[in-house]
Amino acid sequence: MSRAIPAVILGASGYVGGELLRLVAVHPDFELRAAVSDSAAGQTVGALFGHLAAALPDHEFVAHADWLGLIEPGSELALFSAAPHGASAAMLADALAACAQKSVDVHVVDASADFRFAEQAAWESIYGTTHGAPGLLGEFTCALPEHADEIDTPHVGHPGCFATASTLATVPLIASGLTGPEVFIAGITGSTGSGKKPVAGTHHPERNSNLYAYKPLAHRHAPEVATLTEAASGRTTGVHFVPHSGPFARGIHVTVQAKSTSVVSASQLRAVYEDAYAGAPFVHIVDGTPRIKNVVASNHCHIGVATDGDSIVVMAAIDNLVKGAAGGAMQWMNRLWRLPETTGLDMPAPGWT
Ligand SMILES: NC(=O)c1ccc[n+]([C@@H]2O[C@H](COP(=O)([O-])OP(=O)(O)OC[C@H]3O[C@@H](n4cnc5c(N)ncnc54)[C@H](OP(=O)(O)O)[C@@H]3O)[C@@H](O)[C@H]2O)c1
Repeated sequence: MSRAIPAVILGASGYVGGELLRLVAVHPDFELRAAVSDSAAGQTVGALFGHLAAALPDHEFVAHADWLGLIEPGSELALFSAAPHGASAAMLADALAACAQKSVDVHVVDASADFRFAEQAAWESIYGTTHGAPGLLGEFTCALPEHADEIDTPHVGHPGCFATASTLATVPLIASGLTGPEVFIAGITGSTGSGKKPVAGTHHPERNSNLYAYKPLAHRHAPEVATLTEAASGRTTGVHFVPHSGPFARGIHVTVQAKSTSVVSASQLRAVYEDAYAGAPFVHIVDGTPRIKNVVASNHCHIGVATDGDSIVVMAAIDNLVKGAAGGAMQWMNRLWRLPETTGLDMPAPGWT
């Protein structure tokens, strides 16, 4: 029997918000109550997102100031945020205060970076601005569902796209003790990773048929990957990360390299990953090398390994908007509401995109 838990999406007019709308539209237990957007308020979902017109024919975007009026006292609420970091925390603080006043039973999953660090000072030093709701940090856990059996907070801060692919690749390796603490990661992301607002670096003539690194060894996702890996593996981790912009719209591919403390075979390494993800429905250890086309538009992660003597390579591919954001958020929301983790998420990748 389905539950019809009301769902609200903040930042619903963006790329991640659009993916959350697509996932909620077919979810058997969440029912869209409000797609929140100031820029698109009053427009139908189909007017902004033509691909969702048939799936959500009766829904109009609701302005940020108006959505709380749609939530009934004493009801349940699955609240997703796909707002930008820096804005999300304050929006969620207002929402949670209003929900408390109305005795609404609410779980939040925030796709932004605002709840990725437990300490306000750590977040502010990396994001260079004042945190919007430091009093709420203790109510959010930041982790991947694959690395946290149970959490003791009502809400979750999703790790983000590069960190999802990287951390799924690093945690079994670091936890195994096969290497020292240092990992070297090169990652390539599609252009949807930068959001819908056009900027010079994501403009089609710049991005198409092009490939370039940005912020090498200085990207803010490196400390996020280190923090997540340390929490999940119990071991100190040094992350050396070089992100790249790729000439495709969606998908992330990361290559993790490390030196083993002894000679290790590919089959030994593969067994480590198979063991680590034996109970993880969305993580698959593949033969050969993972390809983004096999995961794009799905919540799956493909991992491949290779070794040569004491050299180790682990590759991971995900969809940045699904497993790296909206799908990962839905996976957590399922768990927060004690629904099977895979609910509404078990579609395969289309393969030809
Ligand atoms: N894109 C990815 O691959 C990805 C992956 C993981 C995590 N994330 C995170 O997910 C969030 C959404 O990413 P996105 O790529 O979907 O971004 P986006 O396309 O730029 O959309 C963000 C949406 O947030 C809304 N918004 C609300 N308050 C805002 C404010 N103060 N300033 C600007 N916009 C505001 C905007 O809608 P209205 O103006 O209509 O209200 C906008 O459409 C971000 O925090 C991002 O870091 C993104």
